[in-house]
Amino acid sequence: LASLEVDLSSIEPGNTVTVKWRGKPVFIRRRTAEDINAANAVDLASLRDPQEDAARVKDPEWLIVVGVCTHLGCIPLPNAGDFGGWFCPCHGSHYDISGRIRKGPAPYNLEVPTYSFLDQGKLLVG
Ligand code: FES
Repeated sequence: LASLEVDLSSIEPGNTVTVKWRGKPVFIRRRTAEDINAANAVDLASLRDPQEDAARVKDPEWLIVVGVCTHLGCIPLPNAGDFGGWFCPCHGSHYDISGRIRKGPAPYNLEVPTYSFLDQGKLLVG
């Protein structure tokens, strides 16, 4: 199946849920106000793959990213690393709460998949 429907209603603020889409993990993070502020407080000039947080989300409360490290494809761990987002244990890449690469060998930010919000708190990935 090309698309995946996910019920967001049971995801608490501050939590990350992993779903599988087209054989890959997709991370769904329900961000707190603190997370959103942190994502927006970053100086873009300091980023390896400069992207505003607003360009990576449709609704600031929800960050949806493909859970595949852009270095060599390991699966990063949530709520880990030096930047409040993800940490890839394979070679030590740190991603922030917008899924942007901040430290380590990965060249790019975590990919944002195609998605849309449906009625009644549902997400459609793909
Ligand atoms: Fe993630 Fe190498 S695969 S740091």
